[in-house]
Amino acid sequence: MNRQIKFICRKPGPKSVAIIRRDGKAVSSSATREYSFVFKSARGCYVYDADGRRYLDFAAGIAVMNVGHTNPEVMKAMARQAKIAAHAGFYDFYAELPVKFTETLLTFLPKQFDKCFLSNSGTESIEAAYKLARWHTNKKWVIAFKGCFHGRTMGSLSMTNSKPVQRERFSPFLPVKHVPFPYYYRMKMEPEECSQHCLNALEKTMKQLHGNLAAVFMEPIQGEGGYVVPPKSFVRGVRKLCNEHGALLCDDEVQAGCYRTGTFLAIENFGVLPDIVSLSKAIGGGLPLGATVASSRIMDWVPGSHANTFGGNLIACAAGISALNYMRKKKLGQNAKSVGSYMMKRLGEIRDDYEIVGDVRGLGLMIGVEIVKDKKSRKIAEKERAQILCKASEKGLILLPAGESVIRVCPPLIISKKQADQGLDIFEDAVKEVTG
Ligand SMILES: Cc1ncc(COP(=O)(O)O)c(C=O)c1O
Repeated sequence: MNRQIKFICRKPGPKSVAIIRRDGKAVSSSATREYSFVFKSARGCYVYDADGRRYLDFAAGIAVMNVGHTNPEVMKAMARQAKIAAHAGFYDFYAELPVKFTETLLTFLPKQFDKCFLSNSGTESIEAAYKLARWHTNKKWVIAFKGCFHGRTMGSLSMTNSKPVQRERFSPFLPVKHVPFPYYYRMKMEPEECSQHCLNALEKTMKQLHGNLAAVFMEPIQGEGGYVVPPKSFVRGVRKLCNEHGALLCDDEVQAGCYRTGTFLAIENFGVLPDIVSLSKAIGGGLPLGATVASSRIMDWVPGSHANTFGGNLIACAAGISALNYMRKKKLGQNAKSVGSYMMKRLGEIRDDYEIVGDVRGLGLMIGVEIVKDKKSRKIAEKERAQILCKASEKGLILLPAGESVIRVCPPLIISKKQADQGLDIFEDAVKEVTG
């Protein structure tokens, strides 16, 4: 039976039900939907389902809509460009708009980054980083972290390690070693002890590769793996070990980047400069856009070594320029910091009041809430998490899961404190009901 018409939550409205039925017949069975919300339209921090119900959005289209849904400035930029042309074939012909997008993006980044490769998604921005690292170093191996998510095409999937189902039956993979990431809450260790433990494992693996290591790929905060924030000492330690072993540090900012954590790049919170940065999701203001950025010293590959058809799509670039400028003009990083710390405080109180809320962690508006059977055992509570997600959606709040037992809170960065409170009230009600 099709999983999507089991209706784990209360049965949705008739229009939603009809679409879910059609989806079950025609759409690839590889999709996972946690509950039966059917998207119809959206504005700002709100989304509407096919039956006209309004929801507060704490998912932002999987951390994409940082500027808010149907942002008027971004919509205008897209509409203006749509009247001129959509596609130029940028890797075969010159065009100004992709150049302008690249120039704009570079102004958000540390000065060392002066070259950019454009693509259409997160996984492609990782593939480009992977190929560039191998090209530049002419070495074979890369190291990635347990619990990481870098995408689902074969290069990025060779690194992705957050859920077994993502890798099952897809081997053989490219040469990648996986080492532990300091998920100290789950590993039941103190942060610094865990950081050192993971750095030791990384160093040991680096030594085993006998100088044939091209790069270490890292999410500064693990996203799909459970919104896991590492200790500062860990991120700095990774940088130091990369320097000592001649490996490039590839920073996956696909989910954590674009001011979500307060700073443009999440890795800035740790005071670390990477060698290659991959961006996507929010940089396109809702349109598919990926960017891989490095210094010209590192981005030294020859013509023909990497390209694509749609990278630099004109409408995506117009939307991206407008979204980046909007984020800067409206100081969305500052809003992410202030509303984020307000939400962390309230979620901390919720954690203190409910046995099944085990941990609250995050930076800015990238917050993970770990649901457990009880605080002492910290056992994962997948069923309870699913119930909370369902109940919250029934009450008008969109949330997403991450990792085995985590709920992620990643609203548009334009969210106000009042809206944050509305969402957290719903979240607390859902937790209360599930706790019984
Ligand atoms: C950190 C990270 N890297 C890469 C990706 C892959 O992005 P996409 O789904 O656009 O291919 C994701 C997607 O969620 C992500 O969170």
